[in-house]
Amino acid sequence: MHGFVHWTADSLESLRRMLAAAKTLKSRRDRLPAEVLRGRVMGMVFFNPSLRTRTSFEALMARLGGHAICLNVGGDTWALEHRDGVVMDGAAAEHIREAAPVLSRYCDVLGVRTFAGLKDAAEDAKDAVIRSFARYATVPVINMESAMEHPCQGLADRMTIEEKLGDARGKRFVLTWAPHIKALPMAVPHSAVLAAASAGMHVTVAHPPGYELNADVVAAARRWCTEAGASFEITSEQRSACRAADVVYVKSWGSAVLYGKTDEQAASFRAHRDWTVGVRHFGKSEAILMHCLPVRRNVVITDEALDSAHRVVVDQAENRMWAQMAVVMRMMDCA
Ligand code: CP
Repeated sequence: MHGFVHWTADSLESLRRMLAAAKTLKSRRDRLPAEVLRGRVMGMVFFNPSLRTRTSFEALMARLGGHAICLNVGGDTWALEHRDGVVMDGAAAEHIREAAPVLSRYCDVLGVRTFAGLKDAAEDAKDAVIRSFARYATVPVINMESAMEHPCQGLADRMTIEEKLGDARGKRFVLTWAPHIKALPMAVPHSAVLAAASAGMHVTVAHPPGYELNADVVAAARRWCTEAGASFEITSEQRSACRAADVVYVKSWGSAVLYGKTDEQAASFRAHRDWTVGVRHFGKSEAILMHCLPVRRNVVITDEALDSAHRVVVDQAENRMWAQMAVVMRMMDCA
């Protein structure tokens, strides 16, 4: 059974095909196959809030003649347990071992959103909730952002980069950390560097010491860059890295060494206020400013930069729908 859970070296050709399909679908937006998913149902299970992910999946299902059902875990559906062998005497009324196969009887594909716990980096690295769904579902599972990756975001990001820059090979991609008001997961930065590396871009990750990304993800991105003849660097020299960039991708994430230390994490964000990205970070007039959204203005990125000609964040969000359209059609064997 296939699914769209994590990016792997084995899936790069399939990603390239879905990217091509997404671009074709977007170019034919007035001539979409409006009945191709007629009678098909997508079940979406959200452990965390969403604006873009939920709406883009619902919109694409409607545009292709299918239907999407949204469940909010612990809200309008039962709280779910994923650990095996536990005594379920807490908040969770149902185990994924039952929920996933039951939902698979109703739906043709399942989407799952579940953020990292941000308490234990090793635990987050297991990506246990999405893996549990993938294991116990009997239909394809799409990762709508998990503890470790946001593959749909990554696909839309690569689509946006190629839309704006043309062939991205050899162009400079900089992922820069930015401050926030609270610790956030690393799924988006992980998928962003994998997406850029898969496109053969020179990749630089800029962050203060202590904000290292997952070592396995970094190793995969470095390997893909090397195989493409591109460079992969990590630096704490944010300004100079960004000023050389063709793509400035901004994202906040928490420090794994400060997980659970709310006051120290907040103090670290305050100490790195000068990492807020502004127009001074752009050295090339044609460089693009990317962020997955939602973004806190004047904390993560200044008003001036977000309202400048550099920003492509709305196009980037729109491309979620086209990229995911290609993913869903492939999962349902319609492409
Ligand atoms: N970028 C993204 O996934 O947005 P939402 O959290 O609003 O879905």
